[in-house]
Amino acid sequence: MTDTPSKKSTNTLWHSATVTRERREQQNGHKSVVLWFTGLSGAGKSTLAHAVEEHLHQHGLSTFVLDGDNIRHGLCRDLGFSESDRKENIRRISELARLMIEAGVITLTAFISPFIAERQLAKTLVPLGDFIEIYCFCPLNVCEQRDVKGLYKKARRGEIKEFTGISSPYQEPDNPDLRIDTSALSLDESVQLVISLLREKHILS
Ligand code: ADX
Repeated sequence: MTDTPSKKSTNTLWHSATVTRERREQQNGHKSVVLWFTGLSGAGKSTLAHAVEEHLHQHGLSTFVLDGDNIRHGLCRDLGFSESDRKENIRRISELARLMIEAGVITLTAFISPFIAERQLAKTLVPLGDFIEIYCFCPLNVCEQRDVKGLYKKARRGEIKEFTGISSPYQEPDNPDLRIDTSALSLDESVQLVISLLREKHILS
């Protein structure tokens, strides 16, 4: 996979929908946003994203989680973990997240998304304020102790190349909307932090 592919489709025209994002939001009774969870493997992104989704769903909101491991079974099954493949992975997810907020859905993404530039790209694809970056911080040694999938051990043994935090970089967010230390907080406390932020931003009443 090379860097971001250039646009090859020509002679295509944008068709504007009559059922707009605003109308969908009105029907749903809430705004749509992207909640972008980033952090090391094992930092708790997916767990937190799903727990936040559970809370929102129970309150009647329209939600969907895009999860790294799942998306790599389908939409991004052709991609590995080289720098250029990770960039392409995040580019596709960013475009998908853009479509999903057009569909009026609160979209929660749980990808390592290790590069600042790609997270910035995801942010610029949606209107200002509609991208909320949540950094699931967890010290590497704690992720390694958790090692839920046994991947860190394999990476240390050299059986997995380019593993984030071990042999591939993770660029921390400079100024995330929220930084959650998942090694210090319970899942419930972490969910409450996200919910409070959504209230502050008037996404939840
Ligand atoms: S990203 O870097 O492109 O954002 P993504 O979130 O889709 O990564 O996938 C990460 C998941 O793939 C990890 O949680 C882990 O289960 C698995 N994985 C397999 N190989 C690697 C690797 N080399 N580096 C990081 N994660 C890997």
